[in-house]
Amino acid sequence: PRSYWLLRCGSRRRLPLPAAVNRLWSEAAGSNAALASAPKHIEHFSKFSPSPLSMKQFLDFGSINACEKTSFVFLRQELPVRLSNILKEINLLPDRLLATPSVQTVQSWYIQSLMEILEFLDKNPDDHRVLGEFVDALVTIRNRHNDVVPTMAQGVIQYKEVFPQDVGTNQNIQYFLDRFYISRISIRMLINQHTLIFDGTTNPVHPNTIGSIDPQCQVADVVQGEAAKSLCDQYYLRSPDLVLQEINHKKRNHPISIVYVPSHLYHMLFELFKNAMRATIETHEKRKELPPVQVLVSLGGEDMSIKVSDTGGGVPFRRIENLFSYMYSTAPAPQVGDGARPPLAGFGYGLPISRLYAKYFQGDLQLYSMEGYGTDAVIYLKALSTDSIERLPVYNKTALRHYLVSHEADDWCVPSREPLDLSGFKSSD
Ligand SMILES: Nc1ncnc2c1ncn2[C@@H]1O[C@H](COP(=O)(O)OP(=O)(O)OP(=O)(O)O)[C@@H](O)[C@H]1O
Ligand SMILES: [Mg+2]
Repeated sequence: PRSYWLLRCGSRRRLPLPAAVNRLWSEAAGSNAALASAPKHIEHFSKFSPSPLSMKQFLDFGSINACEKTSFVFLRQELPVRLSNILKEINLLPDRLLATPSVQTVQSWYIQSLMEILEFLDKNPDDHRVLGEFVDALVTIRNRHNDVVPTMAQGVIQYKEVFPQDVGTNQNIQYFLDRFYISRISIRMLINQHTLIFDGTTNPVHPNTIGSIDPQCQVADVVQGEAAKSLCDQYYLRSPDLVLQEINHKKRNHPISIVYVPSHLYHMLFELFKNAMRATIETHEKRKELPPVQVLVSLGGEDMSIKVSDTGGGVPFRRIENLFSYMYSTAPAPQVGDGARPPLAGFGYGLPISRLYAKYFQGDLQLYSMEGYGTDAVIYLKALSTDSIERLPVYNKTALRHYLVSHEADDWCVPSREPLDLSGFKSSD
């Protein structure tokens, strides 16, 4: 309970481990020695840098070189490296955040998953049973980590309730969560590729996909926006239309397609559409006809860009950066598994997480807003699969320094709200 937590974190003492961790420890009673050795393994594997894969390598893994054994040998090393790198950063969080039951739970999931993968280090890759067990282990791990984002969000909210004005810590938490969530996206990507490709079935709906990657992802198909529209209809009983325009600079009048993960693209667009539709409806409440949301997709030599434009009144320039902040999110405390949230505005994580999906393959997401008129949100992706390479955090001295610097006074003057009294400067004549 919150009050208990409040009581303790003031004294900077570590909380007793929450139930989830205790359970973990007692479950592992038999392999107690294994869990106790976790810090040693984290130390070891965090010394390696993660190996970013390119879209092309992902495709090769799943087609010409489709070899379950190779993938297994790669993952049993790479997954511990990625997990350990980020576990080191979790440990650098402010004590008072690290001690929240939510963050403790997330940390225990990471340690448990790390230890489960390490079990495979000395197993024989030529044994089919081992390969089968590995797929099962990955599925278990993926499910265990399903609720990481809302659980982490809860930890941040608990922390924020007690320490609302901590600017330096805000910056650290933003830095950490961007890296933590992108690491999570990458770990899930690796797990999904392995389990989808080697579970022995083909995707009945999209037979040409390789794991979760579509080598010819038709952008216009993903832009449909039906889901956002129907969600909007449910909530507001109306929704603006989406108007799509494509400019293919490479092949005029051909539909635009790229090598990409459709579910990632879908996630980003869904979030942008929800935001654009909500702003449009709330701004044009009294109008019978809603102005449409315009979507422009353009393909050049280097970039594939998607612009979502609305006339929903825009956001003041000063607030733009905060829209991507996990700490400034205005959303009320989310409840894990709470079905009662309003559908068009949830955690306030729509924009920051979408930007991470874009950044994960070297893209970006930016907002250009004109208060009083509307907003353009632009997703930049790499047009060429050779440029789409995973962007991964690595734990090193530079990262460490980010957590250690204390954010002291601002190095820009803070303007006073009171007009300056100039009478003291008057020359006496
Ligand atoms: N197109 C837009 N027009 C006006 N305001 C916007 C627009 N997009 C985002 N915003 C503002 O930015 C805030 C943050 O957006 P974000 O998508 O990150 O979170 P949310 O919509 O509040 O919740 P969630 O997306 O998690 O359901 C919104 O609450 C809204 O105030
Ligand atoms: Mg949103």
